[in-house]
Parts: sequence; structure tokens; C-alpha cells
Amino acid sequence: MTEQEAKTRIERLRTELHKHNHRYYVLSDPEISDFEYDLLMQELTSLENKFPKFYDSNSPSQRVGNDINKEFVQVQHNTPMLSLGNTYSFDDLRDFDKRIRKEITNPFEYVCELKFDGTAISLQYKKGKLVRGITRGDGTYGDDVTSNVKTIKSIPLTLIGGNYPEEFEMRGEIFMPRAGFEEMNNRRVKNGEAPFANPRNASSGTLKMQNSSEVAKRPLDCYLYAISGNDLPYNTHYENMMAAKKWGFKISEYIEKYDSIEGVFEYITKWDKKRKNLPFDIDGVVIKVNDFRLQERLGFTAKSPRWAISYKFKAEQALTRLVSISYQVGRTGSITPVANLEPVLLAGTTVKRASLHNADQIELLDVRIGDMVYVEKGGEIIPKIVGIDLSQRRAEARKVEFIDKCPACHTKLVRKEGEANHYCPNETGCPPQIKGKIEHFISRKAMNIDGLGEETIDLLFRNHLIEDPADLYELTREQLAGLERMGEKSAANIIQSIEDSKKVPFQKVLFALGIRYVGETVAKTLAKNFPSVEKLEAATLEELVEVDEVGERIAESVYQYFRNPVHQRLISRLKSYGLKMEMDEIPEASGKLNGLSFVISGSFKMHSRDELKALIEQNGGKNLSAVSSKTNYLLAGENIGPGKQKKAEKWGISIISEEDFIKMIH
Ligand code: IVH
Repeated sequence: MTEQEAKTRIERLRTELHKHNHRYYVLSDPEISDFEYDLLMQELTSLENKFPKFYDSNSPSQRVGNDINKEFVQVQHNTPMLSLGNTYSFDDLRDFDKRIRKEITNPFEYVCELKFDGTAISLQYKKGKLVRGITRGDGTYGDDVTSNVKTIKSIPLTLIGGNYPEEFEMRGEIFMPRAGFEEMNNRRVKNGEAPFANPRNASSGTLKMQNSSEVAKRPLDCYLYAISGNDLPYNTHYENMMAAKKWGFKISEYIEKYDSIEGVFEYITKWDKKRKNLPFDIDGVVIKVNDFRLQERLGFTAKSPRWAISYKFKAEQALTRLVSISYQVGRTGSITPVANLEPVLLAGTTVKRASLHNADQIELLDVRIGDMVYVEKGGEIIPKIVGIDLSQRRAEARKVEFIDKCPACHTKLVRKEGEANHYCPNETGCPPQIKGKIEHFISRKAMNIDGLGEETIDLLFRNHLIEDPADLYELTREQLAGLERMGEKSAANIIQSIEDSKKVPFQKVLFALGIRYVGETVAKTLAKNFPSVEKLEAATLEELVEVDEVGERIAESVYQYFRNPVHQRLISRLKSYGLKMEMDEIPEASGKLNGLSFVISGSFKMHSRDELKALIEQNGGKNLSAVSSKTNYLLAGENIGPGKQKKAEKWGISIISEEDFIKMIH
């Protein structure tokens, strides 16, 4: 194949694949089978590999992401990304309508749309190609997440049809459909990772991941709901959206025009009923004035447009019977009561359990077994009981007697003065506490040991192979490979991952120990102030309380932890296996940058932004977040924010490169 032939074929394949991608992900109407699609893709990637000079960052082959960890560059939005005013009642909407009609006396149209519950995105297109995707950020500056956005298959990389403006911007919502969300969460739980609370958190969390090949594995989708730019084909929002649909964008099919606020009420009433049947979450309806000239006349308040508003649905509730209460034991021994319910449909999923928090909450609600209870889904994974329908209480409804013995090991529970929770004090003999502590120990933010899910830990525990976190370091490959459903390869990987965990820094080891009230941040603070386990162990209560952010409750918990012989033995064993029990050496401060202030912007070749910040501090300099008259240097990488550059020029501040900076400290 000649170079010219390859070029023609590559272009042909790209056009074909863009088209099939659009048919599959936007129109849900594929023309070819997955197999045929894969064949075309394979042909394209193999030609692209053979002829790298034809590389194109918008090729359909580039949707898989890459595993380069890059820090996001902050960029300024062309126009600020504003939010919408919220309303909760038809009365509020009538007021909104009245305000508009004061200004506009001629007939006009409203456009109603669903309010997608995800995370906002701005997409810039030039000459029909996606050039940049930016998160909302603070509304003025957002993160450049182009590489992540490209992995979302319903976002067109290359537009189809014609007639699109040379340069324009689409705004929309990136979200995760419910089915994909649940599947992903189930998988996370199986792998011992923390599940996301809801699809909205999952989509914003995913979009901010620094490894786009991971993003590519998550089921994200995107509806576009706004357009801006010069030379738009129409002067109305609705008609432009319909045009954008023809260029390949995923535009909601649930968008409608009305000429009165009554029509808007109908739309809202319809979708409040039907929303549970949608495959994704919405939290309301957005109402916009259709005509751009009228939008302009109405203008903006400081925070939001006067020509649009959102109507928020009330949190959905369901009424069902409380059948019984179970009690769960956490890794610290805390007891959580959980309501078992008659299964009921709520916001698209079947709910069988609800959280009751603690004994106080049960008393406050005065909930009884057999009561009809209202359940509501908040931002949490587990729905909660928010009230009781007393009119349906039966005479035989029993008051709830909070248990006094641990449901797992039958030890008598304790409840300390002033604490809301009951605890099982049998730390070393209570199975859910033992397993919970090990699960916490290996979790990603702690020792980051891969391959050991909840099930494997249970299996290891039942086979008496592990009884505390230190036992992990005595496991052999043979022991692991001997377990049900465990292959040689997985066993070897787990052993390697356990070995690797010996390099995890001290502050994470400290967090991994699972000392009550010592979360990730407190662990960091403690490690900074007491840079070795010996120093922390020797700390008096007074010394602990003196540390910023450490109150009496934390200090007492840390102090008592190290007085317990069981913990002392655990730590000395972990130490003997080679875990890091002290902070890594920090180089002496040079003082070369004493009295100088820096602002960092853009992305850099040799160091991450955090590394540069650390270097500045180590050398006696100060990091500032915004350019002001107090700034001495703007340390600029690639793609620095235009706002920062302008300000630096205005204040006459030196703009230096990474190389210049390195010279300054050497
Ligand atoms: S229009 C000037 N339309 O709701 C504001 N926003 O507060 C233009 N959202 O986070 C926004 N669905 O991302 C608009 N159909 C829709 C929307 C929508 C969801 C989000 C948006 C923003 C928030 C508005």
C-alpha cells in the first residue's frame, strides 16, 4: 500500500466509523453489527500504527484514552458558565412568568427541557472538530478535560452534515445512566472499592480522573442543552438545538415549546410522573425563553439569567412497611441499625433496606415494627426513613428494643457518655470488626493492595489465614492459590501488591491502622507533627491536643490506641515486615527563594504542579493562587490561563519557564 493509498483508506475509515458511532451512541440505531464495527476499527488502528504521520487526535481510534497522568490545565471560559435560579412551586413559576411579561408584552415561546443530574461541560468546536472540553469549575475558570471528554462516545469528535458555524461552543451535561451506574457500583463493591453515592457524584468524579483510559471504561453519556457563537443558523434556542442534532450532537428528545406558563405546568406534571421510567436521573425541569433577542433584553442577574429558571422536583418518597431491624457491625465496632422493608419502587430502583443511623434516631422517629414508613432517597446510597404514617399504625405495633449484645459475637455492647453510637468492645474477636479492619487497611487510600475483595478476605479469614492486617505479610502464593476460585496468576498479583505496599508512605500507613477518628487528613497532620511511629506513640495527650485540627476526641483516641498491647504488637509486626513507620526525609530548606512569591499556571514537562509547589516551599518561597501586586514570579507552563498572563503583564511581573525556575534553585 502506498502512502497515498493509506491516507485515502484511513480517511474513509474515519468517516465511516464516525458515522457508525453516531448511529449507535446518539441515535441508538446501528446499521452494522458490533463485530463489523470492530473490524473497521482494527483496520484503522493498524493503518494508523503503520503510518504514524497521519495521526489525528480526533480519529475515532482516539476514544480509548491514554494512561498518562496529567494535571488539568485551568482555562478561562469564553463567557462565564452561570447557574440557574431554582423554583419549587407553580406559584414561584407564575412570578417568574409575570416578571418576564412586565418586560415583554408581545407573545413569545418558552422551551421546556429536562434538568439532567450530572456535571456541566463546555465543548468548543472549530471547523467541525472538537478542540476543547472544559468543566464548569468556578464558572469563570474550569479544568481542561478534553482527553476525558473524548472518551465519551456520544460526543462527536468530528461533526457531520454541513452548515455549522466555523467556531462555536456547546454546553451540556455529562451524566451516567442508572443501569451503567449500578453495574459499575456493584463491580466496585466486589473489588473492595467504595461505591459512589449517586450517578451525579459518579459522573463528576469520573470526569476529574487524571487517567483517561480509566474514564473510557466508565459508562458516561452527554446531552447538550445550549449553543453559543457567531453565525448561528437561527435566532432561537429550540431551532438551533434541532440544527445541532443534525450535526451529530445528542440533543434531548424530551424538549418542547409552549406559548404560556400553563403549558410549562403540563410539561412539569407529565415529567414528575414519568421521570422514574427514564434511564437516567433528572432533578427537575429547565424553562428557557426561546428567542435569543428576548433573552438579551431580559439579561442576567449577578448569578443567573433572567430568561431561564429551573423547577426542582421534590425528593421522591415511597410508603412501605417496616418488617424488622437488623444491626450491622462496622470496623470500629460501631453498631448501625438498618430497617428491612417490604420491597417498594422508589426513583427507579427497588428499595428493601433503609438506614436508621442510631438508637437516638429510632427514638426520635418513634418508629415501631410493622409501621408504614416514608422512605426517601437523599444524596446517600442507602435511602432513609423520614417519617411514619401514624394513621396506619396497628395496635400490636411493637416499640423497638435496641439490642444490648453484639449480633456477631454476642459481647455486651457499650455506649459512652455523649456518644450516639453503641459499640462492640470485642475488637480482636468479633469477625466483622476483624474483616472490616483488614478491608480498610488494604483500601486504595490506605495501603492500596489490589486484588483482595471483600469475598477473598472473608475466605482467608474463614480459613484462618488472616486474623489481623499484619498476617497479610505472611501469606504465601501457595496458600492463596489453594483457595476456591483463585488462579495462580491472581495469587501472584496479590502477593506482588502486598509486597509493593511496603513502599506506601508513613501517613498512609497511619491511616491504614484504622484508629478511630483518624481519617486521611488527620493522619497526614499527625505524621507531619510526629514524623515516626515512635514519636507518635510517645506523644502525651497535651502534645496531641496542641496540634492544629486535633481536638480532644481525636487526641484521646490516638493516645489510647497506642496504650493497647494488641496494637503495640500489631505495629511492631508491621515494622518487622518493612512497612514505612517514619516520614521520608525532606531535603533541607535552601532559603534560595526566601521572600519571593510564585503563582504556578499551565502544565509542565519535568514536574507536576504539586512537585513545583513543594520545591518552592522547600526553598523558602511562597505559593500564591492568584496573580496580584504581591506576586514576584509567574511560573508558566504550556497553556497557561490567559487571565493570569494578562494580569502578570499588567503588574509587570516576571513570567518564567520551568527551566528558568530550576536554574533559580540550583
Ligand atoms: S441551561 C445559564 N439546561 O443545571 C445557565 N442547564 O443551574 C444555562 N442543567 O449545572 C443552563 N440540565 O449543567 C440548562 N437542560 C438544561 C440542563 C441544565 C441540567 C444543569 C447545568 C447547571 C445547572 C443550572
